Amino acid sequence: MKKHVMYMTVLSAFLFASSCKQNEKETEPIKPKETVEVTYQGVPITNAYDSKIDSLIALMTIEEKTGMLHGNSMFATKAIERLGIPELTMADGPLGVREEISRDSWAAAGWDNDFATYYPAGGGLAATWNTELSYLFGTSVGEEAIARDKDVLLSPAINIIRTPLGGRTYEYFTEDPFLNKKLTVPFIVGVQENDVAVCVKHYAANNQETHRDYVDVQIDERALREIYLPAFKAAVQEAQAYSFMGAYNKFRGEYLCENGYMLNDVLRDEWGFKGIVISDWAAVHDTKKSIENGLDVEMGTPKPFNEFYYADALIEKVKSGVIAEADVDVHVKRVLQLMFSLKSIDDAGRAKGSINTEDHFQDAYKIAAESVVLLKNENNQLPIKLDGVKSIAVIGNNAKKKNALGGFGAGVKTKREVTPLEGLQNRLPESVTINYAEGYLERYSNDEKAKLGDITLNGPVTIDKLEPDMLEEAIKAAKSSDVAIIFAGSNRDYETEASDRASLKLPFGQEELIEKVLEVNPNTIVVIIAGAPFDIQNISQKSSVLIWSWFNGSEGGNALADVILGNVNPSGKLPWTMPKKLEDSPAHATHSFPGDESVNYTEGILVGYRWFDTKNIAPLYPFGYGLSYTNFEFSDLKTNKSTYKTDEVIQVSFKVKNTGDFSGKEVAQLYVSDPESYVEKAAKELKGFKKVFVKQGEDQEVVMTLPVKELAYYNEVKKSWLVEPGTYILKLGNSSRHIEKEVVIEIHK
Ligand code: BGC
Repeated sequence: MKKHVMYMTVLSAFLFASSCKQNEKETEPIKPKETVEVTYQGVPITNAYDSKIDSLIALMTIEEKTGMLHGNSMFATKAIERLGIPELTMADGPLGVREEISRDSWAAAGWDNDFATYYPAGGGLAATWNTELSYLFGTSVGEEAIARDKDVLLSPAINIIRTPLGGRTYEYFTEDPFLNKKLTVPFIVGVQENDVAVCVKHYAANNQETHRDYVDVQIDERALREIYLPAFKAAVQEAQAYSFMGAYNKFRGEYLCENGYMLNDVLRDEWGFKGIVISDWAAVHDTKKSIENGLDVEMGTPKPFNEFYYADALIEKVKSGVIAEADVDVHVKRVLQLMFSLKSIDDAGRAKGSINTEDHFQDAYKIAAESVVLLKNENNQLPIKLDGVKSIAVIGNNAKKKNALGGFGAGVKTKREVTPLEGLQNRLPESVTINYAEGYLERYSNDEKAKLGDITLNGPVTIDKLEPDMLEEAIKAAKSSDVAIIFAGSNRDYETEASDRASLKLPFGQEELIEKVLEVNPNTIVVIIAGAPFDIQNISQKSSVLIWSWFNGSEGGNALADVILGNVNPSGKLPWTMPKKLEDSPAHATHSFPGDESVNYTEGILVGYRWFDTKNIAPLYPFGYGLSYTNFEFSDLKTNKSTYKTDEVIQVSFKVKNTGDFSGKEVAQLYVSDPESYVEKAAKELKGFKKVFVKQGEDQEVVMTLPVKELAYYNEVKKSWLVEPGTYILKLGNSSRHIEKEVVIEIHK
């Protein structure tokens, strides 16, 4: 990846950043460039900008103004050519820059120059636990977005994973708010350095697909602040995100795109957001409420664009005096400020970007290579030792399945998607014969529509029966080969936007297939490719080697082969808890999923491992878990002092020693417990992490900084963050269930 120039000019950065609250400085190294106030003869230059914007608005008709505030095609607003104002152009999304969509329908536009790099989906990026890779992803996809002339990239998708059944779990990062924000900030900075705005989605409390169009989400204020909002807040205050997407659902009785509390009070007044709020597609329900409560741009699905709430209806309401034109101007002004900041109006000096390049494919490779999670490796069976291996059986539909496109959600049209089978073909020496058998069929019973992610309550209904001849072929391949590798799991037709899964069961009869293959070849490696947890308890008991991979981008197959063959030492860690069974997960244990008209998040702050650890429920694989081909040991855990005041920063240092036979990366995870709290607290919470490379046989000193304010809880009565004085235990380990060292500190007022 070439060195990136900070494209954001002082002036454009100033427009947004100077007014964002800066009081919550973090120690994260990847941040937007420092902004400097630019003045001309003592007058801040923003005034010059503002007056230019004001004079443009003064020249506009109400029709021109509203044209800037709603979709005039599927992914753009309307230009005002006579004033030199272009469309505001947008594209999905989380897996890379989406193919060009027709102007007036969801059909592909059929261009032949809209190929893009397919990057690992959110779960894959999160499993790297590597903030530098998040920045790399951002810069890389930002370059692609600007090369395709997009002003707004509809990404990152950062909703908290509340239920393992969530249809969009593969797109989102994690169940943990700290990991979520630490990955979100550098991603945004990377994208926006390319004069492209992110659109942070889906704001907020959009944690399920079931009833997403109307479900009224009830979350207590503390859980909202501690679990569901931190990454959104960091997106504003630490990364200066230019835009947010209002979610489909309701929150406390009001749709998110007309929710005054969430859009005006929290986002703008409290956090200081200066960007624009764009609706999710067809998420607007009321012109006046949305205009008054902070929604700037309405986007939607096909219907005549003048029928949008922000089109003829808005013009009519202004003309009849129901809405003041000055209120419309507020939104137009924000859109124009964004356009100037992105240099989309005066495009001199705007970034040019590049797309579909080898550099970008290699960026996708780097992320994929660090995302693969080694769950089990009895007797160090992996990496495969090729001495004496003449044949490998490759079994499973997932060995060939492509996931750049699929299901209901946005994907990427790409020239390169290396499948797991191709990855092995690329990496294995010619002397090894690959015996491929498909093993199972990807089949659905609720017709073709389901494959396209038909919006149903339970999503695609799978046919879970194996074909006897295919099973036979797979068993034969396994028996006659030295090693067998099964590629199982799910895909993007099955895990899809618009529906949650009905269960955690592996679809298409795969469990039976895996069991049968394990019976005939003990030298079998099971690889699950999926974006969300599955019930793999039985498989995990029966197999001796288990790997987890993701919808992992253009180079996913090469990265996976490199891990299996030992060219890459695995360093991925689960970004969520793998439960033994669904009922162990908090939303299900409390019977508070999926609700109907409304859903009440009764587990409160105890989301993900916070629930499992506090209630002492053993997960199958804990949050933060992942093996390596080597072993690491933590030692010498120390803090720079033993007592701190609430405005201080704790310096934590320790050593990581690589005691095994491979060089590799480990993710040191720092959890904090507050055993003497007066309020309910989770057994432990992640408050720091660092991915470190340590050479075989060497050790390394690591220093982490932990601002004491990170230990605060949200006090609902005082409506503020409070750090309780008293004793805290800092716990260092490599998963939420494997803590190696502890140190006690005291916090004083
Ligand atoms: C999704 C968004 C997406 C939008 C445009 C909606 O259905 O929820 O994430 O950005 O469509 O494709």
